[in-house]
Amino acid sequence: MTRRKMANPAGWRLVSVGVGAAPLLAACQGVQSALSPHGPEAQRVASLSWVMFVSAGFILLIVILLCALAIYGREAWRGWLAHENVVFSGGVTFPVVTLTALLSYSLALTSKAEAPIVVGGPKISVVGERWWWRVFYDDGAGRSFESGNEIRIPVGRPVEVRLTTADVLHSFWAPTLAGKLDMIPGRTNTITLQATKPGVTRGQCAEYCGGAHALMAFDVVAMPEAAYREWLARMAAPPKPPASPQEREGSKLFMENGCPGCHAIRGAGAAGRIGPDLTHVGGRLSLGGAILSNDPPAFARWIRDNQQIKPGNLMPRYAIFTESELAALSAYLAQLK
Ligand code: CUA
Repeated sequence: MTRRKMANPAGWRLVSVGVGAAPLLAACQGVQSALSPHGPEAQRVASLSWVMFVSAGFILLIVILLCALAIYGREAWRGWLAHENVVFSGGVTFPVVTLTALLSYSLALTSKAEAPIVVGGPKISVVGERWWWRVFYDDGAGRSFESGNEIRIPVGRPVEVRLTTADVLHSFWAPTLAGKLDMIPGRTNTITLQATKPGVTRGQCAEYCGGAHALMAFDVVAMPEAAYREWLARMAAPPKPPASPQEREGSKLFMENGCPGCHAIRGAGAAGRIGPDLTHVGGRLSLGGAILSNDPPAFARWIRDNQQIKPGNLMPRYAIFTESELAALSAYLAQLK
């Protein structure tokens, strides 16, 4: 037994390749993977991917085997391979049958009707901007508000998301929930998102849209229905006013240094429309289009170094603040929850 194992190094190499590939496959279970579905639409994409991958792998194996036979096989095998019937079966019949089967499977899978949208449910619109996502929520009960870089949906029910762009082509891709859909100038596309379990995953712009395209990401949060309702109500209301002297100083700096020219903070007298609405920015999961953590140091970094962090974005770098002013501004923004 031992001798046989030792005499088969090729087999062991195969095993070690398999073990080595395990971490790579584990990466597929990530927060931004089409192979880690959190909803029925993404499940269909994942099933199709696996069926296509396994079928193609199987066919590739057969082709390699036949090539090996044709090159190294015995005379009789090579003669058999050259036979007209074998060439016809392998070259015409086999591809026609397999491709027809795979095509039928994919058409049947993708033509399944999407779950109907519940009338009166929340509506979401997303606008592709110069490397961030403007998000409008309408809770279906007369309340609406604007947010940025975060798509929150309730678990269990399909939500309609309308996609447009403010400038060039972008592509909305939340791989754990659905396939990609382009955001096209002058057009509104509609995608349905449905999550079957709560959790935080990540989405990404999937169409090259300029220098910082790769840094145009967003968080996707699926919440239980009751928590979602509570969140919607909280977001539709203005934030609490700044409490500490440092936060009040930050608020003053914000209002006096041109920030309201681009950013809105409901209830604070800031109504800019160019950059993201900051009304509840401190309550978001990340900053800068899901590329920075959400804490006061990250606010300070973004205000001072945003052109290094995301070159070419529409916000100028603000080098005018002292360290303590930056800290005050960051404290103010971080408490906007
Ligand atoms: Cu937006 Cu790429």
